Amino acid sequence: MSPKALDLDRIVKVIADEMRQRTDRGKVAHYIPELARVDPRQFGLAVIDVDGKVAAGGDADVPFSIQSISKVFTLTLALGMIGDRLWRRVGREPSGNPFNSIVQLERERGVPRNPFINAGAIAVTDVIVSGHQPRESLGEILRFMQFIADDPAIAIDQAVAASEKRTGFRNTALANYMKSFDVIENPVDFTLGVYFHHCAIAMTCRQLAMAGRYLAHGGRNPSTGLSVVSAERARRINALMLTCGHYDGSGEFAYRVGLPGKSGVGGGILAVAPGKASIAVWSPGLDEAGNSHLGRIALERLAQATGWSIF
Ligand code: DON
Repeated sequence: MSPKALDLDRIVKVIADEMRQRTDRGKVAHYIPELARVDPRQFGLAVIDVDGKVAAGGDADVPFSIQSISKVFTLTLALGMIGDRLWRRVGREPSGNPFNSIVQLERERGVPRNPFINAGAIAVTDVIVSGHQPRESLGEILRFMQFIADDPAIAIDQAVAASEKRTGFRNTALANYMKSFDVIENPVDFTLGVYFHHCAIAMTCRQLAMAGRYLAHGGRNPSTGLSVVSAERARRINALMLTCGHYDGSGEFAYRVGLPGKSGVGGGILAVAPGKASIAVWSPGLDEAGNSHLGRIALERLAQATGWSIF
């Protein structure tokens, strides 16, 4: 099916209507107190096609905490800084464990399985922090987000960052453990400070779908022609999103949706239909693996209605 023949506005509206009515909404994340206050009845969806046309529905313009979706963008930045040397510090295999698990780290000598579990993302953030003050690294991440989303208003939700900093005992343990193997090079609180803050970036579905366009179109923004990464690197980031983007729910997501996707505990998912569209969905209630419950169902509906799949 060609994307031009699709009535994306109608498809998005039908999905948003169904999601608004559903009563199975999952549970909002509680381990970050500020996220526990978010109203679970919200749902947003934005799809941006290759021509830059936006189909948006529900609460697509309400900002939410992107959390682990930020790991896609920090991975992009770290690869830009040190290229394939990154893979000495983090692996590329699915973990088969929860996103904040610690067990594998001991068996694998402090080298995290992939850049999307918390340990892996903290190691990636450490690369970005090296040689800079934490404030500069964070500024670099934020400016990158504003550039790829083409929106200088994107900001960090300081209340969410402070909330996670206060309660992030598990991440502190992961970071200290990796430090004991020299996988973390900077002071642990520098790296964690930057990590907590980039997870706390707030974006709307519309902004997030804009930010993901380079992944859907061979590394460049098809509207401006500006290149973010090479086509090869975009393909590889997508491969990691497919295999690791939903932690131990990645197989189920690939089976049901068939597109690379990255979730966050704020309830967002960024999904990529290569050559076709960049998609962002948000519903704060999570399933057992910590991925958006209705977000995944909405993407399953979208993939069915459009025929988009990488398989
Ligand atoms: O480090 C954490 O636990 C959070 N800042 C991010 C975790 C997350 O989003 C997992 N994704 N579903």
